[in-house]
Amino acid sequence: MDEKHRGRVTRDGIRIHETADFAGMHKAGRLAAEILDSLSAHVYPGQTTAAIDQMIEDQVTAAGAKSATIGYKGYQHASCISVNHVVCHGIPGEKVLKDGDILNIDVTVIVDGWYGDTSRMFVAGKLSRKTERLIEVTHDSLMIGIEAVKPGNTFGDIGHAIQSFVERQRMSVVRDFCGHGLGRVFHAPPNVLHYGRAGSGPVLEEGMFFTIEPMVNLGRPETKILADDWTAVTRDKSLSAQFEHSVGVTATGCEIFTLSPAGRFHPTYG
Ligand code: MF3
Ligand code: CO
Ligand code: CO
Repeated sequence: MDEKHRGRVTRDGIRIHETADFAGMHKAGRLAAEILDSLSAHVYPGQTTAAIDQMIEDQVTAAGAKSATIGYKGYQHASCISVNHVVCHGIPGEKVLKDGDILNIDVTVIVDGWYGDTSRMFVAGKLSRKTERLIEVTHDSLMIGIEAVKPGNTFGDIGHAIQSFVERQRMSVVRDFCGHGLGRVFHAPPNVLHYGRAGSGPVLEEGMFFTIEPMVNLGRPETKILADDWTAVTRDKSLSAQFEHSVGVTATGCEIFTLSPAGRFHPTYG
């Protein structure tokens, strides 16, 4: 382990966590990832998103943890499930999945006060070639963003790496939602943008904890919120995908707190 360092808050309001805090984040991140791992067999045509959400809530309870989303700003579910052209914050419900639907399932748990926040894509039934490419590019954009996480780089370097990769594939990055600092709180500074200029924004320091969670659209980047005040959809109704990890900056790079123990983060790799 690196030399122990102490907690403080930067000028930008970003908390620098202590070396010992990484263990708490690993535990919370692992539970969130394990819950997502367990869902693969339960996503199929005919299944409802409410049933999937119920399995998530049951597992959070069984683990003695808490859901971060139940009760958050009036939200009432243990997950967000965003199907097809839903960009994020889809509300689980009685809608039945059909063959070829793609969905992002986003779970945030609290373990011993620490937040673990992760999401990934699932497919009901058969995946079309075009959709497979969207999922692939979105997954790879997150991992390319994570590669830019190390002390001395800036948050703009992360956003720039993601945006330039996605646009080279002729897809678009959503601007209306971003990643966020987290730790003993759900959403903290900074806003982690998935687009931007290299070298812009706060400088990364060891001990920063945050999420990276790019949303990528096959069409244009614009979104709108539906009348339920949560569901964000693409304005042009094009398909959208998202992957999210929680990470912590180390002396030489970063640790991913939400790695899939089963190796199932990407739906077709694992
Ligand atoms: N987990 C989401 C995120 O990545 C936030 C969901 S808030 C909710 O930040 F209330 F919609 F669940
Ligand atoms: Co998040
Ligand atoms: Co999330």
